[in-house]
Formats: sequence, structure tokens, C-alpha cells
Amino acid sequence: MNELRHLINITDLSVDEIDHMIDVADDIIDHPELYQDICAHKKLATLFFEPSTRTRLSFTAAMMELGGNVLGFDQASSSSTSKGESVSDTIVMASCYADIIAMRHPKEGAPFVAANHAMVPVINAGDGGHFHPTQTLTDLMTIHRKMGRMKDLTIGLCGDLKFGRTVHSLIEAMMRYDNIRFIMISPEELDLPSYMKEKLDAAGVEWSETGSLDDAIPQLDVLYMTRVQRERFFNEEDYIRLKDSFILRRRMLEPAKEDMIVMHPLPRVNEISTDVDDDPRAAYFYQALMGKYIRMALILFLLGMK
Ligand code: NCD
Repeated sequence: MNELRHLINITDLSVDEIDHMIDVADDIIDHPELYQDICAHKKLATLFFEPSTRTRLSFTAAMMELGGNVLGFDQASSSSTSKGESVSDTIVMASCYADIIAMRHPKEGAPFVAANHAMVPVINAGDGGHFHPTQTLTDLMTIHRKMGRMKDLTIGLCGDLKFGRTVHSLIEAMMRYDNIRFIMISPEELDLPSYMKEKLDAAGVEWSETGSLDDAIPQLDVLYMTRVQRERFFNEEDYIRLKDSFILRRRMLEPAKEDMIVMHPLPRVNEISTDVDDDPRAAYFYQALMGKYIRMALILFLLGMK
């Protein structure tokens, strides 16, 4: 019997496995009819203990387009957690009803605990300020399709690099490809956690920090904007002071490379002005679309079907 695979951290997947999933996702885009019934009679449970729009909808759409079914809940208050049930009990129970589980939880490490108890594959759909590996697969798919390469890239990460889990997972994924350079653009109080800086240094990856988005823009191949993560702040005053630290406006793109792409995991609040939306470099809605295809490939991979 094959060993049960989970996706808790993006590094649970090798670069070859990620590249394979990207190939499958490309094939799904080209030949959707070959995949439309492949998961007939399979069920995905979406256990979301924390709010989500894109991640939950894209998982749901992904399973539906594979011909499978979806069950679950979208807030802790509508699950037995509100009665005091533990995460591990909820997961064992969900394993009885579903073939695969996608779980989002406000506590860092909760999906890891869940995976240790589950009898089916568990996908971390975001755990607190920690990691968000399926957003990263989405981001990698977008970079692959828009840039045509996964190497020789200067990537600017802008906004809340402290609490932004998508940033942490993206760094861990991209640092394994060749000749990747990072520019961290954040207010000092929201800079990258030291454990992430240590990982970059230990791997000998080139990175720098700046407080100026304008200075960084001309150097970039990818600009990854992020929302200031209000729900992770201890006090509202700090949030209000920092929330509009960086706002990307269309005129700021004038010195940018013509083939640079602007990404954002969404939801955006104020970080990207809507006048950027019809600039050809805006890739964030395309990115949301790619999230469905790469999650289809991930489900097939974890079910051992591709
Ligand atoms: C991100 C998340 O939940 O971490 N959103 C997403 O999954 N697309 C980013 C965010 O909430 O800011």
C-alpha cells in the first residue's frame, strides 16, 4: 500500500513533484474533458475554522471540475468545535466521510496535528501566520505561465512580511530554484521573521530589505503585494498606523520592466489601487484562476491518481 501523503508545508513536495503538478495543471487547461469525471464518487471535505473566499471556492470548484463531491463547513461556529471538540477528533471523524481533506485553522501547526490523526490526505489551506502551501502552488503556476521560467528572477515581496503566511511559503518554494533573488519591501515592524531570514542565509540565497517600493520596482520581474493581516495584530492602533504603508498605483509602474508581473494572493484592501487592474502586468485575477487548476492537479496527486 502506498504511504499516505499530506501537504502541510510546501517543502513536503520536492521540486520535481511541484514541476509534475504544474505539467498536469497545464494539461488540465488544454484538455479539461479528460478530467471531468476522473474523481466521480470521490469526496473532498473542506474544514475551514477561519474565513476564506478564494481558497475554499477554488478547492470546491477544483473537486467539482474533477467530477467529485464536496462537503464541509466554513466557520468554526458551525462545527462541533463550538462544543469543545478537538481538532484531532474532528479530523478522524471527517476521514470517515471523505477521501481527502482541506483544512484552514487560525492556530499554527493545527493541520500538522490533524495529519497525524487522519486516515486520508490532509491539505493545509492556511494555518495562522505560518504557511499556506496551496496558495504557493497557485503562485508558482502563475509565475510559470506568465514568465515562462522558474529561474533567474528577482522577486519583490511587499507589505506584511511578518504575518503574511503566503510570503513565507512562497520564499520556501522559490529559494529551491536557480538564481532567485528576493527584495523584501516592508515597514520595519512588519519585516520578515528571523527564522525565515536564517533559512535564506543558510541556503546562500541573495536577499535585501528596503522601505521603498519605488526604489525596488525597476529591478523586479515579479512584484508580490500582500495585505496587512489585521486579524493577527494585538492592537487596532498598530494596524491602523501600518495598514496603508504601501499602495501600488498605476503611475508607479512606469519605471517597471514591461514583462514584470504584479501578483497578490487576494483579498486586497488598499494595497493595489484599482487603476492598476487593466495594466497588462496585473496578474492577480489570473492568479486566482490558476488556483483552481493547480488544486485539481494537487488533489489528483495526493489521491495517487496522477
Ligand atoms: C491569503 C491568506 O488567507 O493567507 N489569502 C488567500 O488564501 N488567497 C492572503 C490574505 O488573507 O491576505
